[in-house]
Amino acid sequence: MPSISDFGSDSGSSGGFPSALRGLPRARLDALPLGGLRCLILDAIARAPSPHNTQPWRVRWIGTVLMELGLDERRWLRAADPMKRDAWLAIGCAVRNVQVAVAELGLVLDWEVKGDAVVMDFADDTAGRPLVPVEQVWERRTSRLAYASAPLPVELLTPLGQAAAPLQLITLAGEQCTWLHRLLVAATASQLADAPVHRELYTWLRFTPAQRDRACDGLSYDALAIDRVTALLSRALLHPRAMRFLARTGLHRMLASSASAAARRTPQYQLLWSERRTHDPAGLVLAGTRLQAIWLLLAANGWYCHPASAIIDVQATAEELCTRLRLPAAATPLEILIRQT
Ligand SMILES: Cc1cc2nc3c(=O)[nH]c(=O)nc-3n(C[C@H](O)[C@H](O)[C@H](O)COP(=O)(O)O)c2cc1C
Repeated sequence: MPSISDFGSDSGSSGGFPSALRGLPRARLDALPLGGLRCLILDAIARAPSPHNTQPWRVRWIGTVLMELGLDERRWLRAADPMKRDAWLAIGCAVRNVQVAVAELGLVLDWEVKGDAVVMDFADDTAGRPLVPVEQVWERRTSRLAYASAPLPVELLTPLGQAAAPLQLITLAGEQCTWLHRLLVAATASQLADAPVHRELYTWLRFTPAQRDRACDGLSYDALAIDRVTALLSRALLHPRAMRFLARTGLHRMLASSASAAARRTPQYQLLWSERRTHDPAGLVLAGTRLQAIWLLLAANGWYCHPASAIIDVQATAEELCTRLRLPAAATPLEILIRQT
């Protein structure tokens, strides 16, 4: 199969909408270069966020432009994400990226979860629905910069709520940020002290250049915005054997607290939640598409953010979150976004 660069991706390592496809009149599906279209779809999937950058995609073409996108279980965080919540959310984020990318070509994507995969079907878009600028698929990043001190402009709240529909998006502010930050520290500490979870997450941290270069996945130290020396120190400190010792002495809580220190200053968190029980792949994929729609919209408006999924991944903190917010019994918290500059 041709590579994306054969179709003039302006990308290099940072990626971009392929230049050969740019500026085409909104074409009919059968008039588009098939190789270019397939490469675009694969690249848009690879640009989606995923937990610890595990890139858990399993793709298979089952027709000319009919694709199956499933979960590669070798990349599933089975200890940290036993219900596959984050994994299916990530797949939903990838589906949204593909929707935005092909919309630029005048195509619409229909998707449906069948068995253990999302089946994606493409057709000419007659409605011409406006989406965020396609560049955001490549420009959005998980930011680990300083946390934003200003609240979101009020005029963004309505479009964000629309992007979340039919799910709910609420802004948590003021006193809520104080206890949310405490939940984040508690959830992080719980993951550090849970040996199988910590061992698994540790394997996805790429603390040395060699590890980083060997695989284009996982969390490299530059993705974490730490320098090489800090990376080497963290590698020793976070090693599962060292962590067993720290957890026995309770010192892991200090680590959790310093890892989340910056979040203490954030004035708002956004919580995406569903009124219905949402644990099945179809519901989670839908939620992932909404999570990514929100994330892309924020990025298009110059706001960076990152999820704080530990609060929801750890049962005790997820329960406290629901209780404090008095969410209905069947409600499912899906993701918490923290905004950064
Ligand atoms: C469902 C989901 C949960 C995530 N949870 C966290 C998290 O708790 N903390 C965090 O810093 N990043 C989290 N991320 C962001 C990933 O680390 C990030 O997407 C990945 O490293 C790839 O980087 P990119 O988003 O810049 O492409 C999450 C992403 C997804 C899709």
